[in-house]
Amino acid sequence: MTTNDTATRPGSTPSATTAPAPLTLLGLGAMGAALADAWLSAGHPLTVWNRTAARAEPFAAKGAITAATPAAAVAANRLVVVCLLDDESVGEALAGVDLTGKDIVDLVTGTPGTARARAAWAADRGARYLDGGIMAVPPMIGVPQAGPYVFYSGSRELFEEHREVLAVPAGTRYVGEDAGFAALHDVALLSAMYGMFAGVAHAFALVREESVDPVAFAPLLSSWLTAMTGSVATTARQLAAGDYTEGVVSDLAMQVAGVPTFLRTAEEQGVSAELLTPYFDLMKRRLVADARHGAEDLTGVVDLLRG
Ligand SMILES: NC(=O)c1ccc[n+]([C@@H]2O[C@H](COP(=O)([O-])OP(=O)(O)OC[C@H]3O[C@@H](n4cnc5c(N)ncnc54)[C@H](OP(=O)(O)O)[C@@H]3O)[C@@H](O)[C@H]2O)c1
Repeated sequence: MTTNDTATRPGSTPSATTAPAPLTLLGLGAMGAALADAWLSAGHPLTVWNRTAARAEPFAAKGAITAATPAAAVAANRLVVVCLLDDESVGEALAGVDLTGKDIVDLVTGTPGTARARAAWAADRGARYLDGGIMAVPPMIGVPQAGPYVFYSGSRELFEEHREVLAVPAGTRYVGEDAGFAALHDVALLSAMYGMFAGVAHAFALVREESVDPVAFAPLLSSWLTAMTGSVATTARQLAAGDYTEGVVSDLAMQVAGVPTFLRTAEEQGVSAELLTPYFDLMKRRLVADARHGAEDLTGVVDLLRG
């Protein structure tokens, strides 16, 4: 997935000899506003448009040029960054707008499929296209020490040409010419995050009715999760090698044998195991399919998810 990615640190500033490049930003919601502030603070001439015009007024006061329509905003600059709610709003806002010769950077969260379709749509209109997946929340934007970055994929030429401007609000990671790859990376990381949140919810539910102080319990939980992140690299190595027995520490047979303990504990504590049972079921299915899988890690679950 990341074979040809390149990264730039956040907060890059233009070299002393070049003036900050102008750009257009469509969308001044929570994320768009943070982006606008970062570019304005770095001295980039910025043209903004927002569907609700009142939201653009504070940015005019900070030096932005406000455009009355998406067409006027797009006409103002070659580089056009889009940060609207969803892909549907991008289609609505840019319907009928002349995109010939424009460089569209679409930061709307979407699927790989919507990104690829939007890239084809832009190409049909004579524009270059770069898709972005923002790995940050608004307060992290323009704050390099908070570690914000954006996955980019699509036109490499566009990315290289505007790299310095794009690196102002957040670091950049270019992950390939396939416009869908930024969304793929973005959603893969966020999906893993939700799996972790599910485990955290279950753990807090287990201790909730007891005299366990959740605030005292929290550092135990977070340090345990941190210690377990080493398994990510192990899984990756096993997938790459096609051998799920390589470097196994706790094998599948042992872990499946432990499942009833987790389910009984949940029952004793009056907690639903619904967040964990789908994962346990896949572990058991892998073992039932072939007893030799008992010597593997949990990596075989990946294959079961792919059908
Ligand atoms: N906020 C985050 O933590 C975060 C993190 C990563 C990625 N993102 C992504 O960044 C994008 C923007 O998020 P946000 O937090 O800025 O959302 P937001 O605060 O809800 O703002 C949404 C923006 O989209 C505009 N909009 C909605 N529907 C529209 C339509 N049909 N036509 C034209 N404009 C329309 C809104 O205009 P009005 O002002 O007129 O309503 C507003 O500018 C989303 O794709 C989101 O997934 C957000």
